[in-house]
Amino acid sequence: MVTEKSSDTVIEQKIDSLLAMMTLDEKIGQMTQVRHFDDISEEDVTSRFIGSIIHTQGPLPGETALEWQAKFTALQKKALATRLGIPLLFGVDAVHGQNTFDGATMFPHNIGLGATGNAELVEKAAAITALESQATGFNWVFSPCIAIPYNEKWGRVYEAFSESTQLTTELTKASVRGYQGILSDSHTVMATAKHFVGDGTTDFGVEGGETSIDANELKKRLLPPYEAAVEHGVGAIMASFNTFSGNPMHAHKALITDTLKEGMGFDGIVVSDWKGYSRFGEHEIVNAGIDMVMAVDGDLDLYQHGLKQAVTDGLVSQNRIDDAVRRILRQKYRLGLFENPFPDSTLVKKIGIPEHREVARQAVRESLVLLKNESNILPLEKETKKIVVVGEHANSTGLQSGGWTVNWQGTSENYKGGTTILQGIEKLAKGTVVFDPDATGNHFDADVAIIAVGEPPYAEFFGDIGHESNELTLTLTEKHQNYINAYVNEGVKVVVLLISGRPLVTTKQIEQSTAFVAAWLPGSEGDGVAEVLFGDYNFKGKLPHSWPSSLEDYNGKYGPNFWDGSIEPLFPFRYGLEY
Ligand code: BGC
Repeated sequence: MVTEKSSDTVIEQKIDSLLAMMTLDEKIGQMTQVRHFDDISEEDVTSRFIGSIIHTQGPLPGETALEWQAKFTALQKKALATRLGIPLLFGVDAVHGQNTFDGATMFPHNIGLGATGNAELVEKAAAITALESQATGFNWVFSPCIAIPYNEKWGRVYEAFSESTQLTTELTKASVRGYQGILSDSHTVMATAKHFVGDGTTDFGVEGGETSIDANELKKRLLPPYEAAVEHGVGAIMASFNTFSGNPMHAHKALITDTLKEGMGFDGIVVSDWKGYSRFGEHEIVNAGIDMVMAVDGDLDLYQHGLKQAVTDGLVSQNRIDDAVRRILRQKYRLGLFENPFPDSTLVKKIGIPEHREVARQAVRESLVLLKNESNILPLEKETKKIVVVGEHANSTGLQSGGWTVNWQGTSENYKGGTTILQGIEKLAKGTVVFDPDATGNHFDADVAIIAVGEPPYAEFFGDIGHESNELTLTLTEKHQNYINAYVNEGVKVVVLLISGRPLVTTKQIEQSTAFVAAWLPGSEGDGVAEVLFGDYNFKGKLPHSWPSSLEDYNGKYGPNFWDGSIEPLFPFRYGLEY
């Protein structure tokens, strides 16, 4: 039997022999990540010795999963045609399922998984995401995001599990286990813990802004999930866009090399984020410890030539280059890519299968947090004579899924294979169900109104409250407030479902409603929501974030004030009622 130790030794020996044969161009090539479109032609994979290809927003690799596989297989053949035949890593932002593929199983975003608090379920969701990612040709996912969001204004709150370091740490372990399983299996992928570090703790919640927490707090609140990820063998860690005292995290040698690599013993790949090279200091990011650069969107030439020049000029040492390449090759060996470089076509038939959707549906059910249930209006009787379902969020798989769904910024359209909340209600209700998308239908004779309101889909800085690109606020829009007013004013009992990527200031709406449910961003299985509303299952979700009572509470950097008790939330962390 080959023990772990001895297989590690064998891998290191193989790396030694490969490294000894590699030219500087070949090494820099390995340290390069590009998109499969725009950045390169297929021939460039061979001539520039590319190390990794990603798929993000942009032209699809094909229509069907088999076409996606074929596209990546063709690129892999180009890589294998190089002198040394080093296989490519194929990465994708599969952050709540293989969400770039229309028809894949979409899980609740991490904030919803944080509400479940169920590590076993998070592990299963990650394993399914890994399989569906492999089925579409990928061996690497840029997930999990293990940020600790301090400020709900940040547009990426929903990508993270929780404001709690402890809960995030537990779910990080589960997630890494789920994605990576036995790394060399054909249905597992390399995971990426991101974004190292301080992404969620910027002042005022600005994506890529300044993080002004001190070293002790960083150590206590932000590093434990990374320590857990490293202990569980996470293959990659992505650097963050934020700065510390004005210094870009990408160029932060003390944190990347001293703390992460040397201190925690991380032996995998530190990958830059989008255009990290041109944005954050060129060769300085390599010196700080970035091993692979996302040289996308026009950065490829600048990066490959610039880094070569920096090595020639003695600004970057050969040792640093060798260390970076060693880390990349190590992961390629651990993934078994040298033996099995191509995707497994038998996995295609498993994309979006009922067994996967059932796990996603369980996650939806367990993610729902019941904040109010006056006179036990919930669970609803299936025999209720007339139910009016209100709000466009109730009948759109796109709206219920948030950003990073089919498109980077998400979609308001239905996508393939999911069920909407309305469809779930219609399936279970035995009486009349009517749909009133914009609350103009005047169905005031209904016994109950189920009103779905919340946020439009968004991703990254487009979701920051206060960013010039949007009109988002920490409250419901007037339009959505009026959906609730319309029915409450006519004396109809109202069950509010909040579909959002973060807690919103909804104190008044909670008062007005008979029942109020924080549903986060459930993903493709909207019928899971109905199953709980009608009592087929109990509520299990608990708040992954403390819940604001007023906008004032959320001014500035509120995080630590919650923790030191000087601001009292409307509902504390882990609040949640049951039947
Ligand atoms: C995001 C990352 C993501 C990357 C690749 C960046 O803009 O910050 O989270 O993994 O794009 O799509």
